[in-house]
Amino acid sequence: MKIAIGADHAGFRLKERLVWSLESRDHEVEDLGTFSEDDVDYPEIAVAVAEVVKEDAATRGVLICGTGVGMAIAANKIAGIRAATCNDLYTARMARAHNNANILAVGSRVVGPQLAEEIARTFMATEWEEGRHKPRVKKIHDLE
Ligand code: RB5
Repeated sequence: MKIAIGADHAGFRLKERLVWSLESRDHEVEDLGTFSEDDVDYPEIAVAVAEVVKEDAATRGVLICGTGVGMAIAANKIAGIRAATCNDLYTARMARAHNNANILAVGSRVVGPQLAEEIARTFMATEWEEGRHKPRVKKIHDLE
């Protein structure tokens, strides 16, 4: 699977870990930064990843900041994006199965690296159930 990934300074270290983890599972990862722990404003990274995901429906996104909240709020401003903050495995599975989320947002100050890896793995492996969820997701996009 193609995955666009990005983080702010708070998420930089976890991003490096997730790039390695996802690539080792044969995902094709596009790293859109940031590339150090110098301060950067998370909306800029969120939009960069969201634009890539918006352009190519086959691509999923991963965004990391301190909580995963700011990244999701910013990414969801882009039409076609369904970003979900998932700091546990159940939410990661449901965000895919029910909401067809196309971007995973994770909080580096909330979860440890091992759990973050499992969250990302779960998010990538779970298919949308469609069915009764399809008209609901359509109603979200009708709001755009
Ligand atoms: C940066 O200090 C922090 O505000 C950011 O990483 C993120 O948690 C925002 O939602």
